[in-house]
Amino acid sequence: MAEVVIVPSAEAAGELVADSIAALIATKPDAVLGFATGSTPLPVYRALQSRGLDLSAVRGFALDEYVGLPPGHPESYRAVITREVVEPLGLRPELVRVPGDDGGPLEGAGGRYERDIVSAGGVDLQLLGIGRTGHIGFNEPGSSFGSLTRVKTLTVQTRADNARFFDSPDEVPTHCLTQGLGTILRARHLVLLAFGEGKAPAIAAAVEGPLTASAPGSAVQLHPRVSVVIDEAAASQLVNADYYRYAWEHRLPWENL
Ligand code: F6R
Repeated sequence: MAEVVIVPSAEAAGELVADSIAALIATKPDAVLGFATGSTPLPVYRALQSRGLDLSAVRGFALDEYVGLPPGHPESYRAVITREVVEPLGLRPELVRVPGDDGGPLEGAGGRYERDIVSAGGVDLQLLGIGRTGHIGFNEPGSSFGSLTRVKTLTVQTRADNARFFDSPDEVPTHCLTQGLGTILRARHLVLLAFGEGKAPAIAAAVEGPLTASAPGSAVQLHPRVSVVIDEAAASQLVNADYYRYAWEHRLPWENL
């Protein structure tokens, strides 16, 4: 079962996950981190920044990228990862990858990205947000649990949700390149974050719902090491919330995230 940790705020989640990343880097300075974009992981990046860790040997792979934005667009995930992660945290840009950023054609970009993740030794810790459609990465409902990095069509809901980052809703691309659910499941530790009531149904489906491609987040139930770090609002539809609180309060000394 996933370890579900209900925290008072997004900031508290950021600190907790930063603890876990700091512990990983202490034992493996060249750890491979899986980065998510969007609003959810920002408290983690801010908490990491405030610790001033040496992350210069860390390698990173982003979950996804829009297809069709002009090069250098400020909302391309390449630009977001540079702005929110690489520069503030002092990572080396050449060690951080985003799908499709290898200069090759879009066709075959998924396979090339998969090979690059494997050559780096796989992802040690993968940060995940979740969309209101239940997507992780941009694996919209119906995505295969075995899927690997490939082009996907975003749902109308996801395009509307992400319109806040663009000048007009029409500017949100219709397509993306995203790690598959199968790619995500190969990471050694999954950390799924969610904040706010709008994420409560997707979290309930991911953590307690049936395993189904209709709720892509439910794929995390197949993983041996998952930490779900959420605030009270995102936890509000979990049937077993009291048990998760009790289990976290009674965790054994070595049971951190
Ligand atoms: C982003 C990603 C998406 C987001 C999800 C939630 O790289 O893969 O799954 O995590 O759309 O977005 P926010 O955090 O903006 O609510």
